[in-house]
Amino acid sequence: MRRVWKLLFGRYLLVTNTVSSGVLMLVGDVAAQEIESRLESKSTSLGLDWQRMFNMTLVGLSQGPLHHYLYKWMDVLLPGASVRTVFKKIAIDQFAISPIFIVTYLYSAGLLEGASVTECTAELRHKYWTIYTADWLVWPPTQFINFYLISPKYRVLYINAITMLYNVFLCYIKHNDDLVTQLTGKARKKEDSSDSVS
Ligand SMILES: *[C@@H]1O[C@H](CO)[C@@H](O)[C@H](O)[C@H]1NC(C)=O
Repeated sequence: MRRVWKLLFGRYLLVTNTVSSGVLMLVGDVAAQEIESRLESKSTSLGLDWQRMFNMTLVGLSQGPLHHYLYKWMDVLLPGASVRTVFKKIAIDQFAISPIFIVTYLYSAGLLEGASVTECTAELRHKYWTIYTADWLVWPPTQFINFYLISPKYRVLYINAITMLYNVFLCYIKHNDDLVTQLTGKARKKEDSSDSVS
């Protein structure tokens, strides 16, 4: 058991991070679909959209290596775990990595679902601030708790649990324009998505 754990979080960390990102996104999307069908459908169970689940898993898989290398780079740049270092890491996470994550998430998910680049850009404009605000509400406190209260051996479990909940939100926002419109008071501009060049 310990040997397997060591390999998963040692030599095969890239694979572990990639697969777990895919699985967490899949679980997040299943939960988001469940919530959507309960909120919206008056009829009995809609059933799961397997194609969408598959697509979101691919998006999750593609985010895995990105996160793996970004955090590796961050550990080289800022070694140690002093309070200062932890705050610097949280700052880099929020100001640099989160925007990259949101942009790649919306473009990869959008393009995969057959949207044009123009439509993805319109969607990004429409949803960026909603997602980025939620990101600020969730991740700095989460990471603070992670580094200060959670025992090192439970960190992965803890982060995965929060990530899964956060992915429910991401998948929900990705597939529900109306909620963003309610939150921001701005409807998604139709002209942005109609002049697509796909
Ligand atoms: C999933 O991806 C495929 C391939 O790009 C696309 O044709 C399909 O519309 C997508 N389905 C959903 C539900 O997003």
